[in-house]
Amino acid sequence: GDEPLVLGIETSCDETGVGIVRGTTLLADAVASSVDEHARFGGVVPEVASRAHLEAMVPTVQRALDQAGLKASDLDGIAVTAGPGLAGALLVGVSAAKAYAYALGKPLYGVNHLASHICVDQLEHGRLPEPTMALLVSGGHSSLLLTEDITSDVRPLGATIDDAAGEAFDKVARVLGLGFPGGPVVDRMAREGDPEAIRFPRGLTGPRDAEYDFSFSGLKTAVARWVEQKRRAGEQVPVADVAASFQEAVTDVLTRKAVKACRANGVDHLMIGGGVAANSRLRAMAEERCERAGIRLRVPRPGLCTDNGAMVAALGAEMVWRGRPASAIDLSADSSLPV
Ligand code: KG4
Ligand code: ZN
Repeated sequence: GDEPLVLGIETSCDETGVGIVRGTTLLADAVASSVDEHARFGGVVPEVASRAHLEAMVPTVQRALDQAGLKASDLDGIAVTAGPGLAGALLVGVSAAKAYAYALGKPLYGVNHLASHICVDQLEHGRLPEPTMALLVSGGHSSLLLTEDITSDVRPLGATIDDAAGEAFDKVARVLGLGFPGGPVVDRMAREGDPEAIRFPRGLTGPRDAEYDFSFSGLKTAVARWVEQKRRAGEQVPVADVAASFQEAVTDVLTRKAVKACRANGVDHLMIGGGVAANSRLRAMAEERCERAGIRLRVPRPGLCTDNGAMVAALGAEMVWRGRPASAIDLSADSSLPV
C-alpha cells in the first residue's frame, strides 16, 4: 500500500532538524545547527539554542520541502519531538509543528526523542526486527533499551547514573584543550594514539554493580587527574594516547554491556544510535564483539546518528503505518518525557 508521507521536526537540543520520509524512505534531511554559537561556552546554552531554533525553523522547513520537491499540502502528517530535551528548545519545535498541522489540517504526532534515535535506522536498513536491543549514546543519554515495538513498547534496561557518554567525550576534550563538541575530535586524535597506553577505569563493571547501568563521571575525573599530574610534573601530555585510552574505556564498557543485555534477553539484533554511535572505535569494537556473539549489528550512518529531523519523521511515519492515534492539538513539550 501507500507508505505515509511525514515531515518531522526536531529541536530537543542545538540542531534545528526537519526531515521528510515516505515510510522507511528518506526524502529530505535539512539541519541548521547552533553548535558554533555554543562552542565558546564549552557546552549547549539553552537560551541561545531556543533563539536559534526560532530563527531557523521556517527556513529549514522550506529547505526540506524543496529538497523533497514537495508542497506542505502533500504531507500525510507532521511529527515533532515532544521530549526529552531542553524545555525551551522543545517548545519552539512543538509550537511550530502544531501551527503547521493546524494550518494544513494534518494530523500531529508527538514522538519521543530516544525512540526516534532508534527508529531512524529504518531509513538505512529497513524495518527494525522485533525485538531489537538499542544502545543509545549521545550528549544527553546513555541507555540500553529493549525495543519490542518502536511505537509503543520500548523498555529501558539501564542508563547512566551520572554523565552521558557524549558528555564524557566533551569534557575530556576540554581537559585536553581540543574544543567542542569533543566526540569527533577525540575520535580523530585517538587514531594516532595507543588505546592500551593508560588503563583508565571501567565504571560499574564490578560483580555487584547494576548490570545495565553506566557511569562515566569517574572515568572523566581519572583522565583529568592523570593529565593534571603530567602537567604539574612539567611533562608533555601524550594527547593521542590519552584520547585513545579514554575512548577504549568508554567503548569497552558500552559494547560489553550491550552484548550482555542481548544475550540475557535472547535478542539477536543490536542497534546503536545517538551522536556517539558515530565513533569509529565504538563501531569497530561493536562489530567485532557482535560477530563473536552471533548478534546482528545495525548502526545508521553518522549523519543519521546525530540529532536530525529525519529520525522524527521516520517514527511519525511508523505511527501512521501502524494506525497509532495522533496527538491532540494541545500537545505539550515534556523535557523529561519517558520512553
Ligand atoms: O545525539 P547528539 O547529536 O545530540 C544529543 O542528543 O546529545 O549527540 C551529540 C554528542 C556530543 O556529545 C558529541 O561529542 C558526540 O555526540 N559525538 C561523538 C562523535 N560524534 C559526535 N562522540 C564520540 N565520537 C564521535 N565520532
Ligand atoms: Zn539526540
